[in-house]
Amino acid sequence: MSGIDGRRHSAATLRSRTAGSQGESPCGAIHKIRFHYLPFRIASSLLLPVGVSIASPVPDSLITGCSQLLTLRGPVPRRGEALRDLGIIPDGAILIHEDRIAAIGPRRRIEKLRQARRAEKLDLAGRVVLPGFVDSHTHLIFPCSRAHEYEERIRGASYEEIARKGGGIRSTVDSLRRATPSALKKRAIANLNEFATHGTTTIESKSGYGLDWKNEFKILSLLCELHQEHPLDIHATFLGAHVVPAEFRRRPDAYVNLLVDRWIPAVAMAGLAEFCDVFCDRGAFTVAQARKILAAGRAGGLVPRIHAEQLANTGAARLAIELQAASADHLEKINAADIRALALANVVCTLLPGCCFHLGLSHYAPARKLIEAGAIPGIATDFNPGTSPTLSMSMILSLACTQMRMTPAEAISAATINPAYSLRTHDRVGSLEVGKYADIAAFDVADYREIPYYFGVNLCAFTMKRGAIIHSKNL
Ligand code: NIG
Ligand code: FE
Repeated sequence: MSGIDGRRHSAATLRSRTAGSQGESPCGAIHKIRFHYLPFRIASSLLLPVGVSIASPVPDSLITGCSQLLTLRGPVPRRGEALRDLGIIPDGAILIHEDRIAAIGPRRRIEKLRQARRAEKLDLAGRVVLPGFVDSHTHLIFPCSRAHEYEERIRGASYEEIARKGGGIRSTVDSLRRATPSALKKRAIANLNEFATHGTTTIESKSGYGLDWKNEFKILSLLCELHQEHPLDIHATFLGAHVVPAEFRRRPDAYVNLLVDRWIPAVAMAGLAEFCDVFCDRGAFTVAQARKILAAGRAGGLVPRIHAEQLANTGAARLAIELQAASADHLEKINAADIRALALANVVCTLLPGCCFHLGLSHYAPARKLIEAGAIPGIATDFNPGTSPTLSMSMILSLACTQMRMTPAEAISAATINPAYSLRTHDRVGSLEVGKYADIAAFDVADYREIPYYFGVNLCAFTMKRGAIIHSKNL
């Protein structure tokens, strides 16, 4: 396990400096450096180099002009009928104290509050306002696109054929191992800024393109650093079990043992991740291997998530239920019995329609059947260079509605409060309620259904993260 020692201390130090007292992300979601500027708070790495901040006492803020204010208040997680209740307040207003929501309701009531009269005013001029998106499945750290494979697939090769020839995940692993941390960081910051301009305020990100200790550590440390320095919250997941790396091709169980005996305990001890994930599918890891890996993660306090039933039905969704995973992701190939079992579980079914769209597949995950059975649906971008190179949650909403027949309200619940539940952060994000973070997105539309309706355009006009403006357009 060369490479652990020298750098573990810096991550551990980071953890002890920043870990919160409320079961926070090891990398310290609460004690992040805040970015406060006057007149209104602006925390944009688009405007200033990351890490530069001017601390100042900040007055309260009052946001008005929300033609539809989608609060998403109510039960967590959402299933069935409750998915369609967005808690909409017409002509709403939000009062913000520091990074939290102090009051929310109809403008006429909120404006009369004493605190509101003294607050700085921001009029969103009739926009539709909702909680910032929570993107609970991304692979943020990768060095370059795989556009050549995109063209090969258009010409007829399948994703699995390309992978068998050494392309796919393994080709990104080869290029990531050659990339410097600073090049990876520069690209990640640019992508995080794009997430912000599309209305996303919290993401999960997996490692999984290193697949040796040095490079998995490089990715997880970078995620930790970015969580500290960038306004967005980043929840890290260890995905050392993405595929078996080329050097272990003939000895997959030796790789599994390395993960279980050495890397997972090291990741857990250093506080480098909150979750552990396995790509449990044809051509990746078996259910038995995944069980072993996720159990080792759980023993170290890493909550399981699983890439399940994307390419073939292997039993991975059942494993997610058995291990009480936070989330089972993909699920394109689940059967009727899996749907019944998922409906009775507390596992979020995170559907990733960007993959089917980008791979040109017509068989999307059975969202309607899952919802009708009573499962907990989530949707996420799966931002990655192989199957889903998008970071636009509104594009994912469009695909969820048009291709998977989710209603716009169901899709919005699946993009906010349910993924927050899967990241164990629903007490702070995912809905707009008193005491939660002021994580807010506003769209240039007249009705919330127009967010998925206008597909392929970014109509997000304003994004706020913990009370600080991180994106604003035409305001
Ligand atoms: O979620 N399926 C495994 N992982 C990614 C694809 C990663 C890649 O192709 O680089 C996914 O689809
Ligand atoms: Fe993925």
